[in-house]
Amino acid sequence: MNSESFLQYRDGQLYMESISLNSIAEQVETPFYCYSAAAIKARIGDCKSAFESIGATIHYAVKANSNLAVLRLMAEAGLGADIVSEGELARALKAGIPPQDIIFSGVGKRTSELLAALDAGIFQFNLESIPELERLADLCESRGRTANVSIRINPEVDAATHRHITTAVRGSKFGIPFSQLELALERIVRSDSLRLHGLAVHLGSQIVTLEPYEKACRRLREWVIELRDKGYPITHLDLGGGFGIDYGDGRCLAYGAVAAVIDRELRNLGVAIAVEPGRSLVATAGVLVSEVVYRKEVEPVPFLILDAGMNDLLRPALYQASHQLLTLKQSDEAREICNVVGPICESSDSFLQQASLPRVNSGERVALLQAGAYGAVMASGYNSRDVIPEVMITGDQYGLIRRRISHRDLMEYENFA
Ligand code: LLP
Repeated sequence: MNSESFLQYRDGQLYMESISLNSIAEQVETPFYCYSAAAIKARIGDCKSAFESIGATIHYAVKANSNLAVLRLMAEAGLGADIVSEGELARALKAGIPPQDIIFSGVGKRTSELLAALDAGIFQFNLESIPELERLADLCESRGRTANVSIRINPEVDAATHRHITTAVRGSKFGIPFSQLELALERIVRSDSLRLHGLAVHLGSQIVTLEPYEKACRRLREWVIELRDKGYPITHLDLGGGFGIDYGDGRCLAYGAVAAVIDRELRNLGVAIAVEPGRSLVATAGVLVSEVVYRKEVEPVPFLILDAGMNDLLRPALYQASHQLLTLKQSDEAREICNVVGPICESSDSFLQQASLPRVNSGERVALLQAGAYGAVMASGYNSRDVIPEVMITGDQYGLIRRRISHRDLMEYENFA
């Protein structure tokens, strides 16, 4: 099954794999996230065949969807992990991803997090500042451990994505600026406890053209040659993630195309290559199922007010992202222009503006597509709403992979004598 065909209308109902989403909604109250295991596995398969054929290792960026059931699919497929916190480390290990396949990224790793990762014996730390490098070296010495390290370098490549998910431009908080690179490398090679691996970059997220990867690879190639000439033994390059998926406008990046660029630009350099895809492995495999609480007839266009809000799926409010919408019951109603919004008291709580959809009435259910990445992980209990459940479908079975965290559960954490 390819990742597009896992979602289909059958007998007038929207099915994910072999289950109608309406039949799940009868059991699991909306809103909820629903993922197809087969679709995730299909993406993993595509990713592996593209990158493993050029000898690269794949480290799933856990932040995209850190549910243990999702991580287990990654572990079973032999993928490593890219983590950014102690919590992600704990999840990756629990799901069965071996520590020797884990890379620790992130701009502000705390002492306790560095120690947890050192004790776990992870594969590599991607360092983002000189003070962080010093901190890790001290911790290694006090623990009598050594750590493999790469420097995350800011390659100053503009990936032309949304400004909130752009990372590799000048002045960004990410990575060590080129001007400090040799200082950092010198410090590493002089250290008894840090072992130099190489360089890491991450160009941004939802990148839909190859040019940023081409530019970054060319820069990295020059730097590797230059740095080796200066005596720094660069053995590893981590190219990050960022591979864009199709949110409905047809623009996305195929794994094979990226792998071909990497292979062409970095071949014969004698470095081990790692990639850290997150979104592209899970986004299209997930939907957010929601019910229309009210259809509100106003001028100039009606509102469909969903029971899902920005606390459940933050991407539209935060990045002006747009997710496609399908009705769970196939509709032959005439199309109309409408606004699809959430119930939260903020005007940014809006999913689609001026969308062309078949007429939808109160009480009908819809699915917001491409919600498998950066959906559930960014959810909150804002407005004292529940943190919504996650469901995974495997063939004709579905399972609740995270139960609803109700507003009552959330109150339990407060001290109120
Ligand atoms: N590696 C590093 C160091 C990263 O910072 C990220 C994502 C990735 C890998 C994975 O990138 P991906 O393949 O998923 O594009 N919440 C935003 C996306 C933030 C991405 C942050 N870093 C969104 O919903 O669009």
